[in-house]
Amino acid sequence: MIPFVNLSAQYKAHETELKSAIDRVLYSGAYIGGPDVSALEEELAHYVQVPYAITCASGTDALFLALEALGLQPGDEVIVPDFSFIAPAEAVRSLGGMPVFCDIDPNTFLIDPSSVESLITSKTKGIIAVDLFGQCAPYEALSQISQKHHLWILEDAAQSFGATQNGKKAGSFGNMAITSFYPTKPLGCFGDGGALFTYSEKLADRIRSLANHGSSIRYYHELIGRNSRLDSIQAATLRIKLKYLDNELSIRRENALQYNSFFSSIKDLSIPQILSGNSSTYAQYTLRSSNRKQMESILKECGIPYCIHYPKALRKQPCFLGLSNPENPSTDLVCKQVFSLPVCAFTDVSEVIQKLKTFF
Ligand SMILES: Cc1ncc(COP(=O)(O)O)c(C=O)c1O
Repeated sequence: MIPFVNLSAQYKAHETELKSAIDRVLYSGAYIGGPDVSALEEELAHYVQVPYAITCASGTDALFLALEALGLQPGDEVIVPDFSFIAPAEAVRSLGGMPVFCDIDPNTFLIDPSSVESLITSKTKGIIAVDLFGQCAPYEALSQISQKHHLWILEDAAQSFGATQNGKKAGSFGNMAITSFYPTKPLGCFGDGGALFTYSEKLADRIRSLANHGSSIRYYHELIGRNSRLDSIQAATLRIKLKYLDNELSIRRENALQYNSFFSSIKDLSIPQILSGNSSTYAQYTLRSSNRKQMESILKECGIPYCIHYPKALRKQPCFLGLSNPENPSTDLVCKQVFSLPVCAFTDVSEVIQKLKTFF
C-alpha cells in the first residue's frame, strides 16, 4: 500500500543521526530550551535570511503569538483566504478579531489581490497570506495594497518552508511570518512545533515574552502571555532534518514534474500552476478534476491514497456562519474539484502513474 506521506521511510533514512541526537538531549537533562533550541533558531533564521526566528509549540500557536504581537484588538478585521486550512481564520476569531474571507486564483489556489482590495474597510488591520500547498502568495501585489491602506501582512508559511519567490525564502515576506513543523509538513518534527520569523527586534522580543508567560525576566510578567515552547528533542531532530530539506524538496519537485507530464494531457484534469518566480515545496500536489467523483473511484480502485484539501470554503464552516461574508466563486469551484496525491520525497510517483495508466 502506498502511504500518502511516507514518514517512516524518512525516519529510516536518517535513523542513526536522529537516534543519537535524541539520546544526546535525553542524557543532557535539558528538555525545555537549552542549546538545541537556540541553535535551531539561529539555523532557521540563517536559512530564511531574516534576523530573528523564534520557535514555539505549533504553527497554530505561532499564528496566535503573531497576531498578539501585531496588536490585534477585538473587532479588528483581518483578510484571510477562504480556501485554506482553518488555523489563520481561527486564530483571528479566537482573539476577538473578525476574519473576512477573500477569494483565490483558481489556478494557483493562492489569495487573489483584487479580492483582498475589494474587502478593505476602515476596520481592516491586516492580511494573512497563506502560501498554500507550498508556493508563496503574490507578495508584490499584496505589499502594494498593504502600503496603500496601511495594513500589516502576516505570511503563513506553514506549508512553504523552503520555497522561494524571486530568490527570497518563504518566511521572509510581510511584517512577520510563521511556519509549522507538524510531522507531514515539508520540514516536520516528531510531534507539534512551530516558529515565527521577523526583521524587527521589538517584535521578536514581544513574541519571546508572549510565548513565555509574558515574561522576559524570570518571575516578572510584563504581558499576559502563554506557555508555547518547542521541546529540545524536537529542536535537536529538526536541526538534522533541516540539513536534508533542500535535497528532499528537489525530489518533491521532480515528483511534481513527473505528475505534470502525465496529467497535463488528460481531459477533465488541471495540473497545479506555479506563479512565475516561485519554486514550490509541493507540500501538496493538488489537481482539479471536473469529475472528481469519477476520479475518486479510479484512485480507490488503484489503491492510491488521496486527500481533499479542502472540501468546504471556510466562510461556510459552521463555526463561521453568521459573519457577514462575500461570495467567493473560485473558492466554491475548487472545493468541488480538488484532490491531492502522494508527492513526498519517499514516494515512488512512477508507481502511482503506472497504476493510473490502465485508466488513462
Ligand atoms: C496553512 C496552515 N497554517 C497553519 C497551520 C497550523 O499548524 P499546526 O498544525 O502546526 O498548528 C497549518 C497546519 O496544517 C496550515 O496548513
